[in-house]
Amino acid sequence: MILANENFSKVQATYLFSDIARRVREFSEANKNASIIKLGIGDVTRALPQACVDAMGKASREMGVDATFRGYGPDYGYEFLREAIAHYDFQARGADISADEIFVSDGAKCDTGNFQELFSTTTIKVAVPDPVYPVYVDTNVMAGRTGPAVDGRYEGLVYLDCTEENKFVPDVPAGQVDLIYLCFPNNPTGATATKEQLGAFVDYAHKHKALLLFDAAYEAFIVDEDLPHSIYEIPGAKEVAVEFRSFSKSAGFTGTRCGFTVVPKECRVFNSSGEAIPLAPLWKRRMSTKFNGVSYPVQRAAEAVYSEEGRAQCKELVAGYLANAKIIRERLASKGFKPTGGDNSPYIWFNTGMDSWKFFDKLLKEAQVVTTPGSGFGRCGNGYIRISAFNSLEKVVKAMDRICGVL
Ligand code: MLT
Repeated sequence: MILANENFSKVQATYLFSDIARRVREFSEANKNASIIKLGIGDVTRALPQACVDAMGKASREMGVDATFRGYGPDYGYEFLREAIAHYDFQARGADISADEIFVSDGAKCDTGNFQELFSTTTIKVAVPDPVYPVYVDTNVMAGRTGPAVDGRYEGLVYLDCTEENKFVPDVPAGQVDLIYLCFPNNPTGATATKEQLGAFVDYAHKHKALLLFDAAYEAFIVDEDLPHSIYEIPGAKEVAVEFRSFSKSAGFTGTRCGFTVVPKECRVFNSSGEAIPLAPLWKRRMSTKFNGVSYPVQRAAEAVYSEEGRAQCKELVAGYLANAKIIRERLASKGFKPTGGDNSPYIWFNTGMDSWKFFDKLLKEAQVVTTPGSGFGRCGNGYIRISAFNSLEKVVKAMDRICGVL
């Protein structure tokens, strides 16, 4: 008989954002005249930068002519894009990353979900922050690295509590852990980590022969000049860290799909004899077996993000969302809440003083605003709500008027 992967029965029945979408759909069907404003899932609303649109259009036309048509692209992404990424995102910030350490993909969700395939499913200990982007947890559950969930936490995983006390930046694990997921600026809390704080994780990884999976999908929102954008700004990180990036939020690519993962040549894992082996060949092998690359027009659009106009247009895009975030923070503070995030991140996180889903329902029903319940990100999110700044200024102002009107 065809036996199902029973690890899937351990994972929560639906993905958080699918669950929210279902609730919103049911509410809309029952309230046909409701004018719902979505500040839930972090999906961008503003148009692609013109530089990207132009580049994508030009590349599409090239695909329509035999002489310039292109079939399968290079396994790890076109050189023109990998070079631009290495230069602008890393070398310009003093991080010594070269084009052949960059692997272009269809986004950070897929890469952060897929990367765990490179590691043992039976022996490694995995640590995740709590609250956490659900993809890190669910993919490890599906792979069989955990027991069942008990009181909202999977047996076998190590949870790194992120609370008001530690300003939502966890301490390094107390004991031996082999794989650690980190995300800064953080989804969902909007917290950021200093060089010293990331340095402690790099030191831990060296000492414990561990690996860090660093999700930097929101780095474009950092405005504070002292904050690191990349884990590779930390000395020693290249041996012990992989970094994930995305064009989704920084250049409006949620529907266009492009991101990349950095696996430095020095980055090592260990075989069962305890010998260090390079990690990059494993990721290369996985990519060439399971992925056929991002389309040529989309890679040209991503390349345009780094042109002079592209950089200015992306900066403006991000500044617009950050201006929304400031309004959300200020309006919540005016109601006596103590929001975090939103200054170097598009997410604002606050303690509601009541059950997260009840508060979510209150805002949906009474203010017709969609948010994200913090408990959906883990036990430490109980009582919290995440508000996303991804919408137009007009809708954010209207949503906050309505929210403040019902609080
Ligand atoms: C979120 O709302 O947390 C993000 O949109 C999820 C994602 O980028 O996949």
